[in-house]
Amino acid sequence: MVEKLWGGRFEQGLDQQTEEYGASIKFEQRLAPFDLQGSLAHVKMLGETGIISQDEAKQIAQGLELVEQKLIAGEIEFKIENEDIHMNMESYLTQAIGPVAGKLHTARSRNDQVATDMHLYLKAVLNQMLSALTKLRETIVNLAVNQVDTVMPGYTHLQHAQPISFGQHLMAYYQMFTRDFERFEFNIKHTNMNPLGAAALAGTTFPIDRKLTTRLLDFEKPYANSMDAVSDRDFILEFLSNASVLMMHLSRLCEEILLWCSHEFQFVTLSDAYSTGSSIMPQKKNPDLAELIRGKTGRVYGNLVGLLTVMKGLPLAYNKDLQEDKEGMFDSADTILTAVEIMSGMLSTMTVNKSVMETSTQKDFSNATELADYLAKKGLPFRQAHEIVGKLVLDCTKKGIYLQDVSLEDYQKLSVLIEKDIYTVLQSEVAVARRTSLGGTSFDSVLAQIAAAKDELKKH
Ligand code: ARG
Repeated sequence: MVEKLWGGRFEQGLDQQTEEYGASIKFEQRLAPFDLQGSLAHVKMLGETGIISQDEAKQIAQGLELVEQKLIAGEIEFKIENEDIHMNMESYLTQAIGPVAGKLHTARSRNDQVATDMHLYLKAVLNQMLSALTKLRETIVNLAVNQVDTVMPGYTHLQHAQPISFGQHLMAYYQMFTRDFERFEFNIKHTNMNPLGAAALAGTTFPIDRKLTTRLLDFEKPYANSMDAVSDRDFILEFLSNASVLMMHLSRLCEEILLWCSHEFQFVTLSDAYSTGSSIMPQKKNPDLAELIRGKTGRVYGNLVGLLTVMKGLPLAYNKDLQEDKEGMFDSADTILTAVEIMSGMLSTMTVNKSVMETSTQKDFSNATELADYLAKKGLPFRQAHEIVGKLVLDCTKKGIYLQDVSLEDYQKLSVLIEKDIYTVLQSEVAVARRTSLGGTSFDSVLAQIAAAKDELKKH
């Protein structure tokens, strides 16, 4: 039986099922480098403040470096008996340097230690997220550059509404992912705080220097209150919430890609690299990855609701329930990072079937607003114009023709305000080009959005 680091008060060993149930080492091994980083800063501070001798601090620091080398070389065997990452690391330190290792835990508790590990880990993830999202945003802008003049149906209620530029559609997602980027960026602010030195909950009687560990760990500031530092996980909840909003955006885009790939739409074709086949139907080319990202949105939402529920009834300060903060966070981090990378790849290799998109705006009534606006601009009250055009659309559907097929004679019977130029106004390209209001779909407006996005991306 491994002697527990907290074993002094106990007369009996731990029940084996209890030991396995309570051990977090099974799922937190990825915290190892951050745990060592935190310990190194702590021991340097213990030496600097004279809480332990400089010589002892040096021995421990060297020992930690040895453990780190073993970790990199894959020579660390994590043991359930050592319960968690902190005690696993400490047992290797003891093996390396002997009893002086026991001085490392002076003025520290696993409560501030684990919180420190989580902050360091999440900060690294957030920086990875920012890079991945920048790449996705660049991919979207590069795609949009080539799609400014691609006219497609814009939808409301999944019915053809008004023609738009595909560039406008893409740039809408650029804006959403930019806000996701900003949310993760803000998340860094609340993750960039140092809990180390809070000890178990109340601080410590040792003359520690929290500002020094804050500097050494590259945190922005120490937590101002020791109980807050060890007992809250709102920085993780912010992350899980931001991850959920991001997945919602990705999932909507996936849903659109799925529609666009269908036989009914045929707006885009995915690269083989992002499609899979069927074991029974030889003709199938399935957009599996888009479905999978849409599906994985469920677990990311679940991780948020899971941790919110864990936290809601916890009295201050540390409670073992908090150990449940890890798996969901790790899972969401892995899931969103991969999803964003795959989405970048899927979009950058996708073929856009421009002519199919354009044709689909010619066999529909998405130009009905143009006719109503035309009449309104000539002085007819818009409500009246709407009524006239509505009746005309009904008549056309009965005859199986479109607004551009109605003769000038029939138009003039409808209203003397209608002249020959109506046929130009009814063209989908013209409808797009004329929507010049700020943020509208005109080609110029999309170009302006792209230029602004490029400027924004240059700043990162
Ligand atoms: N494995 C624990 C966690 O993740 C580490 C902190 C343990 N502290 C304690 N007092 N049992 O929360």
